[in-house]
Amino acid sequence: MRQDTSLNPFCALILVITAMGSQAQKQPEEAIDALLAKMTLEEKVGQMNQYNGFYDVTGPAPVGASGPALKYEHLKNGWVGSMLNVHGINEVRAFQKIAVEESRLGIPLLFGFDVIHGYRTQSPIPMAEAASWDLGAMEASAQLAAREAAAAGLNWTFAPMVDISRDARWGRVMEGAGEDPYLGAQIAKARIRGFQGDDLSNPHTIAACAKHFAGYGFAEAGKDYNTVDVGTNTLYNMILPPFHASVEADVATVMNAFNILNGVPATGNGLLQRNILKNKWNFEGFVISDWGSIGEMVPHGFAKDLKNAALSAVTAGADMDMESYAYVTHLAELVKEGAVDEALIDEAVRRILRIKFSLGLFEDPYRYCQTPPETLKQWEETHMAQVLDMAKRSIVLLKNDGQLLPISKDQEGILVIGDLADDKNSPLGSWRLGSVDHSAVSVLEGISAYRDDFNYVQGPKVFDDQADFLHHVSVNTTNTKGMEEAVEAAKNAELVIMVLGEHGFMSGEGRSRTDLGLPGLQQDLLKAVLAANKNVVLVLMNGRPLTLPWEKEHVPAILETWHLGSQSGHAIAQVLFGDYNPSGKLPMTFPRSVGQLPLYYNHYATGRPFDENDNVFWSHYTDEKNEPLFPFGHGLSYTTFGYNDLQIKTLPDSIVEIGVTVENTGNLSGEEVVQLYLHDVVASVVRPIKELKGFKKIKLEPGARQKITFTLTEKELGFYNNAYEWVVEPGLFQVMVGGSSAAGLRAGFELK
Ligand code: NOJ
Repeated sequence: MRQDTSLNPFCALILVITAMGSQAQKQPEEAIDALLAKMTLEEKVGQMNQYNGFYDVTGPAPVGASGPALKYEHLKNGWVGSMLNVHGINEVRAFQKIAVEESRLGIPLLFGFDVIHGYRTQSPIPMAEAASWDLGAMEASAQLAAREAAAAGLNWTFAPMVDISRDARWGRVMEGAGEDPYLGAQIAKARIRGFQGDDLSNPHTIAACAKHFAGYGFAEAGKDYNTVDVGTNTLYNMILPPFHASVEADVATVMNAFNILNGVPATGNGLLQRNILKNKWNFEGFVISDWGSIGEMVPHGFAKDLKNAALSAVTAGADMDMESYAYVTHLAELVKEGAVDEALIDEAVRRILRIKFSLGLFEDPYRYCQTPPETLKQWEETHMAQVLDMAKRSIVLLKNDGQLLPISKDQEGILVIGDLADDKNSPLGSWRLGSVDHSAVSVLEGISAYRDDFNYVQGPKVFDDQADFLHHVSVNTTNTKGMEEAVEAAKNAELVIMVLGEHGFMSGEGRSRTDLGLPGLQQDLLKAVLAANKNVVLVLMNGRPLTLPWEKEHVPAILETWHLGSQSGHAIAQVLFGDYNPSGKLPMTFPRSVGQLPLYYNHYATGRPFDENDNVFWSHYTDEKNEPLFPFGHGLSYTTFGYNDLQIKTLPDSIVEIGVTVENTGNLSGEEVVQLYLHDVVASVVRPIKELKGFKKIKLEPGARQKITFTLTEKELGFYNNAYEWVVEPGLFQVMVGGSSAAGLRAGFELK
């Protein structure tokens, strides 16, 4: 690529200021046209290029011909449209200054970052938040993250991840909303509203990014970056709906994916990006590649070299290249050779500039660099209170036999066991590049807020404290030191709280696992302690569903607390001691064994679903049940709820009203997620045995009853056929309503 030298640097600043001032006053589309007309081909391609942060801008400029020096040169040439992983006001300002003051046209940069579950203040991991089924709380949580990120100079997050996944081996399930497309779509919309608000130019909101388009969550065998091969029924009805909902919610950007989808890499996939996303859904934002995913089409065996990969990606509709160097190196040449129509480049650049305009960067490129550090300090208290609230809502009570929970505040003889109980790092979860390491409230600290007379015994050390984002966590599988001490202490305790699970860096990108039991010696420890004392409450900390059939059978009380972020310990303690009555529900099925995977509630029936006589020839395993450990939507409360009086009214125009009465039948005030499932019994394309089509989270005082009404329309009653047409077919439907996907109340109706 050659630098355009038609303007000398002396004129650059004046031109920048005039260009920005006049463009800001015009309508964005006109201003974009005017700017495009001024741009050289190389500058246009530059807008389509994103680089990772490469040097400490407060130090001397990098020298040499490649690496940081090359990137720096490209920035000055106007050949970079966006940076990722540059954060903090000083850094962002310094990079922006290069783009705005030293490049010919002074087009401001976008600053993208993985603000996945909080920026500085960490909220629960997305899977945990999804377990709250509380859309308002999730929206507020994304808004908080956006506010903090924007105050650090950022204007773009690579979130939400809206990949549906059915395989807990895949480490990135922690980053999504679970296995259900309906719940996933509602959560996608809520989080996008939270990040973006209703005005992107507000300096407290940032652009969102729905990712990874598409199919990434269906990696074979749950192995990250692996092959994805799915049929149209799954693609259209399971994978795409949360993306479509994101586009309807005006998401600013979409990220493509590392995986191949049915033989074609998502990054070079024109059906996905150009036909469906841009043409069918009228998406107006832009598509960013995943990190290096354009280049990765070469090892995939789809492109013969980087130039060919650039050609495939741009033709398919990928607008910006994250760190492949493919566009910046080859696109201009491809246009000059006639292989790529310049109109394609113009279209991509127009999309990118549109987002820059919407963010208000042409009015003020430093818009996101204004918040003084004191303001961040002032926010701290309210932000901590908010993530604490989110964390409590995310906890799921899996089992509570014998009513060990809630623990009385006068309970004597409490013993806490487990490496994770004293861990201030793991609860921060996997994506926390903007937060301070070891800054979470640990479980021990949380419990200390209630009692100062409890004992703590670590038991065998499980995890290596040095684990970080880039390295695997090493797990102790042999050294039993500490086991005996824990068992002895348990003998003298009245109640034992065991905090066991996965280290925060055991889930997330590149963290696939084949064994989903408790890592290391934790189950041995649990068994030994339980033999010494039956009164055990198991507090699980993990980033994915785990296979814990033994634990389910033997431990009287189990609380799923995921990785809950900065306020983790306080949230857990408040639930343990009953100051918050748990209300979370699983957004993903917990399997009994890895051999059952992929396992999900919204599956199809087989031709041999069941044999009463248990002969061999029906769809089952010889060594494991078909049922999950805990079904999708499961979650208990310290109170109980009864469901009655299911009524169905079919109205004209395919409208169906479903009413149910829910009653708090226990002794405590509590929240319940009322879930509605539907089964289209016979259809031209077979439909799952049940699909979530509505839910409401309600709060009821003891003895109180509430009638809940759901209205189903063509949107809930229809599905995509294999030609990707939305159809609503007459015939029988079954309705199931209850507090989980194993919902109790059933009735049916016929759609004429
Ligand atoms: C790769 C991940 O797949 C993607 O989700 C993330 O946003 C980028 N890296 C940038 O960090």
